[in-house]
Amino acid sequence: MQDICLIGFGAIGALYAFALDKSSQVRVTVVCRSNFDAIQADGLEVISERLGDCTSWYPYRVLRTVQEATDRPYSFVICAFKSLLDVQPTASILAPMLDNIERSPDTAIVLLQNGIGIEDDIQNTLTSRGCNNVVISGCAWVDTTLIGGKTVVQRGKERLVLGYHRPKGHTGQFSEERAQSTLDVLCTLLRSGGAHVESASVDAARWRKVLWNASFSTLCTLSRTRVCDVLAVPQSRQALVDIMLEVLSVARACLPEDGAALLPDSVAQDVINNENPKSVFKPSMLVDLEAGRPIEVEAIVGGIVKRAKEVGVNIPRLEIIYASLLLVQRTLVSSSSL
Ligand SMILES: NC(=O)c1ccc[n+]([C@@H]2O[C@H](COP(=O)([O-])OP(=O)(O)OC[C@H]3O[C@@H](n4cnc5c(N)ncnc54)[C@H](OP(=O)(O)O)[C@@H]3O)[C@@H](O)[C@H]2O)c1
Repeated sequence: MQDICLIGFGAIGALYAFALDKSSQVRVTVVCRSNFDAIQADGLEVISERLGDCTSWYPYRVLRTVQEATDRPYSFVICAFKSLLDVQPTASILAPMLDNIERSPDTAIVLLQNGIGIEDDIQNTLTSRGCNNVVISGCAWVDTTLIGGKTVVQRGKERLVLGYHRPKGHTGQFSEERAQSTLDVLCTLLRSGGAHVESASVDAARWRKVLWNASFSTLCTLSRTRVCDVLAVPQSRQALVDIMLEVLSVARACLPEDGAALLPDSVAQDVINNENPKSVFKPSMLVDLEAGRPIEVEAIVGGIVKRAKEVGVNIPRLEIIYASLLLVQRTLVSSSSL
């Protein structure tokens, strides 16, 4: 049995930890924060169209801190917390485990998070320590919520695109073959647990996913409105398209030819057309703002702005959105405990 450690037992973490456990091939250690007591006492209730229902699932181990999880090597260390790179970088959350990871070159780091460039911070940290552990990230097309800290609900479709990241500057030690076989192991485990997993070049998938977040999530958050509202007003509907066109131009400049070919300008209108004009959905960025929690501004917008600068693409709308959300974030962070 291989051991897997999953940090961040929220909606995404709970769903995929459950899928991994269902494979019956792994022992899943989970690190919880606010819901530690609830999970420890009653386990997790799962209500999932994809994975089925379970009234009370107990992970193999439920721990309170990353430090406590450093007692053994893991085949995968999965990060399923929000990507708050400006508040709590991934490497700082993983810090207690970095020595452990350094001693176990076969431990792969897996980031189940939205955004662009979310892998940079942990890859740079690993490189600076001389480690060449495989870094994988996953982009989830799913709508899942954790209610009361101990009931995960997933309705409708679920799809997880996973791929590995080549280290920046391509260090001589990176092995494409090793990264692919590590990725294959993870995909097989998740699939045998019932998840719908695709193995792909994850960068194109991440750009495709961030289109919605960089447009709908940001406009809904700044205006504190729902998806149906930003679609109802012609000016904000047009703004959604214009923002997505900026994202697409950066994406195409960053991606190799085959990836760029998947993201023509027409995708922006496809995204709008696919949305239900009556959707009362509130993006998680807005939900976080309303709850007074920091938002994923660096992952969702900052990453695009950074990449745009690197490739010399002008994105004036996104620059304004980024600046506005940084102001929102400033207030949230100053009044949060993080
Ligand atoms: N939910 C979805 O439908 C969905 C779909 C696609 C992609 N995503 C992406 O998936 C990622 C995770 O989202 P989510 O919806 O699962 O978020 P979430 O429900 O807020 O869960 C995040 C969990 O991580 C925990 N956490 C944060 N920092 C931690 C730390 N240092 N140590 C231990 N636990 C920690 C949080 O604990 P606390 O309760 O104490 O804050 C929370 O339980 C995000 O990048 C999101 O954008 C989500």
